[in-house]
Amino acid sequence: MDERSSTQQQAPKISFTGVNKSYGTQGSRGGSTLALADFDLQIAPQEIVSIVGPTGCGKSTSLNVLAGFELASAGTVTVDGKPVTGPGPNRGVVFQQPSLFPWLNVFANVVLGVKCRGVPAEEYEPRAMRLLEEVGLKGFEKHYPYQLSGGMQQRVQIARALISQPDILLMDEPFGALDYQTRLLMQKLLLRLWEHFRPTILFITHDVGEAIFISDRVIAMTRRPGRVKREVRVHAPKPRDYEFMASSEFTSLEHELVLAVQGEVEDREHAAA
Ligand SMILES: Nc1ncnc2c1ncn2[C@@H]1O[C@H](COP(=O)(O)OP(=O)(O)O)[C@@H](O)[C@H]1O
Ligand SMILES: [Mg+2]
Repeated sequence: MDERSSTQQQAPKISFTGVNKSYGTQGSRGGSTLALADFDLQIAPQEIVSIVGPTGCGKSTSLNVLAGFELASAGTVTVDGKPVTGPGPNRGVVFQQPSLFPWLNVFANVVLGVKCRGVPAEEYEPRAMRLLEEVGLKGFEKHYPYQLSGGMQQRVQIARALISQPDILLMDEPFGALDYQTRLLMQKLLLRLWEHFRPTILFITHDVGEAIFISDRVIAMTRRPGRVKREVRVHAPKPRDYEFMASSEFTSLEHELVLAVQGEVEDREHAAA
């Protein structure tokens, strides 16, 4: 409780207040799907918050509403106190499936957005080279996406999201398609990038351990319509290393969150039985 209030003492960077999101038209054949109901979440500047929850509970919907890809049906979503009305360069987004243009090389993929927005080349070129170095892709500027592993493609996506110097990074299961070892590398990479750029991060994952490893706070959602069921704070200082995964803090948080999420999954099974 104290922890919650300490987060909320400063003005939140991101705020969801009473957000409802339904898809489809009410009353139409098949009805509408209520994805989020009374979803409330405040995120402090530079905080890393992960959302975990059962499949279909509304995790991606919450991120898409914040990104401005979807509009809330009710309630408000604000960034720096201003309502979100659409996508913007202050919010970089990374999805699970790399959405790189196959006919553009790594460098061109990274700079495409800023180039289209009219940022001068002498500004974005050195920034792109620096970013590619930071995500571990120095020397791969001229490679094409098909020449890269899944992990490397996600590195390109992260560089592309950071090129417009967003102060918010939205990540929807960004490492979900990667093998376990690569995921661990990417989690550490993300913490390194956070040290450097200090963005506010909303990270969605179905992997409770991943959420704990990278986050200051982890939110467990109920099943659909999703709302916040449980939130835990992770106190271990950042950057974190693999030793943290063997700590009592990590294992007890993992246990608590697995129970919270699995409870939602099993309730649904019982309801269906
Ligand atoms: N564009 C859409 N149109 C209709 N229904 C959708 C759409 N996007 C998501 N949904 C539905 O909303 C619910 C929540 O979806 P989503 O936010 O993608 O869940 P999660 O990311 O937690 O798996 C699901 O029942 C899903 O089928
Ligand atoms: Mg999703």
